[in-house]
Amino acid sequence: MKNDLLIRCAKGEQVERVPVWLMRQAGRILPEYRAVRAKFPNFVEFVKQSEAAAEVTVQPVDILGVDAAIIFSDILVIPEAMGLPYTMVEKKGPVFSSTIQNAADVERLQIPIPEEKLGYVLEAIQLTKQALADRVPLIGFAGAPFTIFCYMVEGSGSKTFSKAKKMLYQAPALAHQLLQKITDSTIHYLKAQIGAGADLIQVFDSWAGILSPQSYATFALPYIKQICEAIDEVPKTVFAKGAYFAREAFGKMACDVVGLDWTMNPQESRKLVGTQKVLQGNLDPCALYADFKDIEQQTVQMLEAFGGQKHIANLGHGVYPDIQPDHVKCFVETVQSFEIADRFPASTN
Ligand code: CP3
Repeated sequence: MKNDLLIRCAKGEQVERVPVWLMRQAGRILPEYRAVRAKFPNFVEFVKQSEAAAEVTVQPVDILGVDAAIIFSDILVIPEAMGLPYTMVEKKGPVFSSTIQNAADVERLQIPIPEEKLGYVLEAIQLTKQALADRVPLIGFAGAPFTIFCYMVEGSGSKTFSKAKKMLYQAPALAHQLLQKITDSTIHYLKAQIGAGADLIQVFDSWAGILSPQSYATFALPYIKQICEAIDEVPKTVFAKGAYFAREAFGKMACDVVGLDWTMNPQESRKLVGTQKVLQGNLDPCALYADFKDIEQQTVQMLEAFGGQKHIANLGHGVYPDIQPDHVKCFVETVQSFEIADRFPASTN
């Protein structure tokens, strides 16, 4: 592979510069993405068009010069493949026509065979690998079981996900059954993505921060742990937004990279996670609204705080839709021109 920085870094190897990519880079910001997106009025259908998905996956590599591609898809393809269809409503987000409320609902859910129900993602991965022609690695992904549980029980996005959390308190055994079924589906799915060509995988626990530390330990960590232990083919990243309290636990888990949001201090995180793992993140996505000089300054400050090695530069969450592409490019180029050999001579010996 021409640029395998991200893979080497994720494996904990010493690198000559810090690799960089952005969560949600495929979609949202590029006019070139919107042009492809406009051909498909319906997001759910768009995701199933493997050729279009591969095309928009490669766009950020060509246009922004990032060190990795992330497959264009959504975490919600798993609930759909398990038997819960969704629609994506403009300005509202995902909406499920039915939700999971009782044992019969959980019973009805399938553990899908990826080749049968999610073949379009696997095909998009294969097409993307061809189009990338070994320029940069391709990241596969899935939602973490608790985040998927939130959508399946709540039926839509929410500030509090109180309907979903209610099940944790009123019917914990049922919640565990559902979480286990999601976990089994996710393991098969991620393995199929790897089989199709994904070079690394990331698990997004976007709603981790709505749980108490105790609930997170009970309803989220054991399932992420199962996923990490089931997958040893490629490096794995766990990103649990808002779960500042889980960093020590991730340090002990069988993952390679721990993603940090922008509220988590890099040095403190390093102490909690330990010296072995790679850290990913964590510039505030809003920092990209600033002018170029400030973006450069904030990015360099972040890079210095992480210390040059065992760090994958990224934002602390997905890039926002109204960020100008040239501001994203400024972030990417600042990382790529940061000389770790000069700044941290001891780290490159
Ligand atoms: O990184 C990438 O760009 C790859 C593609 C990707 C999408 N969704 C495409 C998408 C990825 C990695 C995701 C993950 C995802 N989806 C997460 C976890 C990451 C995070 O941001 O926390 C979550 C929680 C979802 C669920 C989801 N999908 C929501 C809440 C929404 C609506 C609001 C939004 O984010 O735009 C989506 C829609 C969605 N997923 C869009 C895209 C490009 C926008 C839909 C459109 O183009 O109409």
